[in-house]
Amino acid sequence: MRQERLKIWGGNALEGKVRVSGGKNTSVAVIPAVLLSDQPCTIENIPDIEDVHALVQILKNLGAKVSYEPGVNMVIDPRGVDDWHVGYHDAKKLRASYYLIGALLGRFGKANVAFPGGCKIGSRPIDEHLKGFRALGAEVEERAGMIVAQAKELTGTDVFFDIVTVGGTINVMLAAVKAKGTTIIYNAAKEPHIVDLANFLNSMGAKIKGAGTDVIRIRGQESLHGTTYAVIPDQIETGTLMIAAAATHGDVEILGCIPTHMEALTAKLLEMGVHVSDSDDAIRVKMMRAHRAVNIKTQVYPGFPTDLQQPMSALLTTAHGTSLIQETIFDQRFKHLDEMIRMGANVKVMGRNAIIEGVPQLYGAPVNVTDLRAGAALIVAGLMASGITEIYELEYIDRGYEHLEEKLRNLGAHIEREPVD
Ligand code: EPU
Repeated sequence: MRQERLKIWGGNALEGKVRVSGGKNTSVAVIPAVLLSDQPCTIENIPDIEDVHALVQILKNLGAKVSYEPGVNMVIDPRGVDDWHVGYHDAKKLRASYYLIGALLGRFGKANVAFPGGCKIGSRPIDEHLKGFRALGAEVEERAGMIVAQAKELTGTDVFFDIVTVGGTINVMLAAVKAKGTTIIYNAAKEPHIVDLANFLNSMGAKIKGAGTDVIRIRGQESLHGTTYAVIPDQIETGTLMIAAAATHGDVEILGCIPTHMEALTAKLLEMGVHVSDSDDAIRVKMMRAHRAVNIKTQVYPGFPTDLQQPMSALLTTAHGTSLIQETIFDQRFKHLDEMIRMGANVKVMGRNAIIEGVPQLYGAPVNVTDLRAGAALIVAGLMASGITEIYELEYIDRGYEHLEEKLRNLGAHIEREPVD
């Protein structure tokens, strides 16, 4: 594959309006969920990103017909699916390939799926997912890098999660939605994409109540029908754009977002002295003066999202004072800070804590992306820095952000993608 890099000439204030894309983490759950339907489904607002392309390829390999017109819709016809195997080379392309286990188990009562890939931000076990499938009556074995699950009949039951897990909650919903009887998930995750997936499944005839709270009740249905559904906007892209607006001392209105999903970030930006105002489906971020340091502790929703910790840390590198970041969700989500040190950031990482001493200015430098949100963080840092920042390993960014450079360019950023010789 041809290597590319981003070149950012920093220092331009971002100004204007930008429309946010459909949610990555909701799309990668909704697409496999179509396998549970007896009829074709039409999904709107699916972002044109590599994680989506990888998932579409997996569905096609399994026998589904998929037509995808970015910006219009995706139509998935799952009727021809006659395979429940997803091998290593497909599964490793993205984290969300683990949703194929729940979806195939729900459809066929069997799934043979390799362990998922995704960003290397910590150990990321899926033991809670497997515990949930077992509770529903599946036999689950881990064999030579594969998860082999099968059940004569999935039966509704109580599933208690020991930790709050987004992936585990979604996977058990997928497996339980056609199980016999009622499943109750306790200590469920409450992220907006869990509510979105529940709404999607309900539009196919599922009976799910309580999504968005920590107890979700699922009354199993014998069959699910086709639907037309639009996924919610991406709250992490929204947050990344909000942070980029503040970081460049800009004035940006983000259109088509859901402001209530952004409350943890909005509260932090206000605490820093950034102007944030919102209407029904838009947020305006304006930075008029120097910003103050703040402390951040990542938490499950509605707490401060771990996926925004990395871009937010870029903004904190030039804040007045000292910020403490506590990363409580993943054990290795500070790799981007090593790259920012090359750009003049004053940072100390101690395990899951990072102390950021604000400096007056970052300077452009060559840096490497280590994971998706690290990529977003380095773009924000490059936009703030004086001079030229070169960003390498762009495939991580392409997995999860739709047309990010184009959007930033339209807001006044000087950013170009070019081949690496
Ligand atoms: N965990 C376990 N056992 C499990 C499941 C999770 O120990 O069976 C641990 C994880 O190791 C982690 C914590 O529980 O320490 C939370 O993990 P969770 O299951 O909630 O996260 P995930 O499903 O792996 C999803 C998103 C991530 C996002 C997290 C947290 C997708 C495909 N991924 O991951 O998104 O950071 O939830 O909100 O939806 C990203 O978009 O950049 C990204 C990494």
